[in-house]
Formats: sequence, C-alpha cells, structure tokens
Amino acid sequence: MSCTWTAFLLLKVFVSCLGFNLDAEKPTRFHMDGAEFGHSVVQYGGSWVVVGAPKEIKATNQIGGLYKCGYQTGMCESISLQVPPEAVNMSLGLSLTATNPSWLLACGPTVHHICRENTYLTGLCFLLDSSFRQNQNFPAAQQECPRQDQDIVFLIDGSGSITYTDFGKMLAFVKAVMSQLQQSSTRFSLMQFSHTFWIHFTFNDFISTSSPLSLLDSVNQLRGSTRTASAIKHVIAVHHSKRSSERCHEDPHCHH
Ligand SMILES: *[C@@H]1O[C@H](CO)[C@@H](O)[C@H](O)[C@H]1NC(C)=O
Repeated sequence: MSCTWTAFLLLKVFVSCLGFNLDAEKPTRFHMDGAEFGHSVVQYGGSWVVVGAPKEIKATNQIGGLYKCGYQTGMCESISLQVPPEAVNMSLGLSLTATNPSWLLACGPTVHHICRENTYLTGLCFLLDSSFRQNQNFPAAQQECPRQDQDIVFLIDGSGSITYTDFGKMLAFVKAVMSQLQQSSTRFSLMQFSHTFWIHFTFNDFISTSSPLSLLDSVNQLRGSTRTASAIKHVIAVHHSKRSSERCHEDPHCHH
C-alpha cells in the first residue's frame, strides 16, 4: 500500500517538472449530442482534435461521423467524406488513428455486405491528408460475395449453466438456419460441448440423410462444466483433418 502511494507521488513530481500541459482547471470541452461522440479521439496537426461519432445516423444506410474540433475555437465541424454507397452502416469513426507525418486513418468495421441469405460484416478505412482530404480507401473495392455456398458447423454449449429453455432456443435457432438454407448446397454439422465433446452429425451424415432436420431430434443436453476453448480447438482439428484427408483423396501421390 505505502509502495503504491510513493509511486503515485513520484509520478506527480515527474509530471510537474516535465511541465506536462494538462489543464485541469479550464479544460476545453467539445460537445455534440449522443451518437457515441468521443468514442475515438486523436490529436491531429498542430491545433486539431479529431473525434469519431460511430453511431451517428448520417443518411439512409450511413452510420458514423467524423469531426474536427479546434483548440482555439472550442468548436467542432463535421468532416465531409465520400462514403461509397456499398459501405452500408459502417460505423465510421469506431477506430481512428493519426500516423506520421500527418495522415489520419478513420475506419468503420461494420459494413453490412449482403450476399444472398447472409450478411457479412466487413471493414472500410479512409486515409485523409493534412487538409482532411480523402486520399485513399482501404480496401479499394468491396470484396466479392463468395461464389460457392459455405458449409456451417454449429458448436453449442450444453453445459449445466445453460437452462433447459435456453438449450431449446439454441436448437430452434439451428433448425431455423437449416430450414432457411434447405435449397442451397450448404452442408451442416452439429457438435455440442460441456466438459466433454459430442459430435451429433457430420457433413457426411447431413448429406446422406433424406430428412436432415430429423437429425436434431435425438440431441440431448450434455450438462457438466464448460470447456469452451478446448471445444473450439477440437472443432477446428476435426474439420482440418477432414479437409486435408479430402485433399489427399484427390491427389494420387498423397500418402497418409
Ligand atoms: C442501417 O441502419 C439503419 C438505422 O439503424 C437501419 O434502419 C437500416 O435497416 C440499416 N440497414 C441495413 C442494410 O442493415
């Protein structure tokens, strides 16, 4: 206890002798209403503070705003940016950084990219120069939708802390997703964990049955403790070894 106290005192001494200019008496306040204004803040150039408001609704399907605030004036004004129309609800300003010599990188990680039944969340960043002009976008173009249907593995927590009702909700969710994608070529697999790990059905089981939804009928909750990390590792290992053996199968030179 006394040790911490000494460290604190020392810090104070350092701060005052280095002349650290934090004005706690008359600070400049920048204020905007709501919308998470202030979620990200960077000091920029000689006299600016750039502030993100990642929840601000700017227009239809355009979420997130960026402001430049002046020390001298104590005022903020919106930085206007060309947000590409495909950057739907990106939460601009959720992350913000200033780099040397005077670049500003403002990002939004929640671009809603709709590919048929699925919505993917991708990110977009704008690089601004010292006059707040948009220099480059990263990535330059939006990723394409995956050409093939993707396979889905469900890993559900069946440990004792999950109530009977909530376990039922999880199964209902799995069922809903499987029903929704019945017409696609997506394969499903379901695994459950607690302190142990249980494979209910694999991709192969899924494709070899005529009524996939009935695979869910025999799923019972395991109960017990929760080994989440091991379960995730296990799922990855199961599917990784499957994929490499499939590849092996296609390659006549490959030996196990
Ligand atoms: C974008 O956000 C607005 C406001 O929250 C919402 O009404 C709209 O449905 C969202 N658009 C998409 C494609 O998610």
